[in-house]
Amino acid sequence: MIELKDVSYARLGAPDLEQAEAFATRCLGLQVAERSAKALYLRSDDRAHTLCYVEGDPQDQTVAFEIDDAGQLDAAAGTLEGLGHGVHAGTAGECAARKVKAFIAFKDPTGNQIELVVRPDRSGRRYFPTRDAGITGFSHIGLNTTDPRRDERFWTQVCNARVSDRIGDIALMRVNAIHHTMALAPASGPGIQHINHQVASNDDVLRSFYHLAEQNVPIVFGPGRHPTSGARFLYFLGPNNMVFEYSVGVDAIEDEASHRPRQFGFEPSSLCMWGSKPGGAIPLPPS
Ligand SMILES: [Fe+2]
Repeated sequence: MIELKDVSYARLGAPDLEQAEAFATRCLGLQVAERSAKALYLRSDDRAHTLCYVEGDPQDQTVAFEIDDAGQLDAAAGTLEGLGHGVHAGTAGECAARKVKAFIAFKDPTGNQIELVVRPDRSGRRYFPTRDAGITGFSHIGLNTTDPRRDERFWTQVCNARVSDRIGDIALMRVNAIHHTMALAPASGPGIQHINHQVASNDDVLRSFYHLAEQNVPIVFGPGRHPTSGARFLYFLGPNNMVFEYSVGVDAIEDEASHRPRQFGFEPSSLCMWGSKPGGAIPLPPS
């Protein structure tokens, strides 16, 4: 069993790093930790980075999860190889580029690029963005799936994910007490479906709704409230059509032993209990 502790970072290919930096700093509210000609490292909490844009193809998207130590990393590599997944052990240079002590890379059954990392760098400096969006940290990821039941089996049987709730066949899965660290989203191929940052309050969600609308950032869902996790949310588009989410108030699963996943129907009310529907921003009144 591969014991994932938390999501660690996302790495996104981007043809235009300046555009990515403008969005990350002026709209999303991340802090530039480091910038080179080919990469942009961004912070959202006390970690050294949680998002990295790398000059390249926007289809090149990777999610990393932290595991405990090198021994578990070796065991994970053996488990994955035994199941027929190709495993690449990170070179010293690749580890340095990810700010981790060690990592392995593989593809999940859908083909999503996953990295398992050991000892990701923390920063001694307080996270301090130029735009105050109220972000408290990188929290979860939506992952494309071409077969939700197969991929739920992979994440819950090969790895330690537990299903907190399901919407149709879509599993919202936790690897710690937080209601979900990953959500599977049906799609025709691999990729990151959305990237979530937690914010401190409902006010932050609504403040950003107005701020992002003013910046002409497309709002794709919300403001709303998920009946599954209880979180208030806002989804919006970043560079290369990546969906970002702010949310606040996600439930914690207090009692692992007694929690039973709830089944929600595959319908808009399962995604928002206030009535917001995916795909449409609230129309602005004529001015
Ligand atoms: Fe989410």
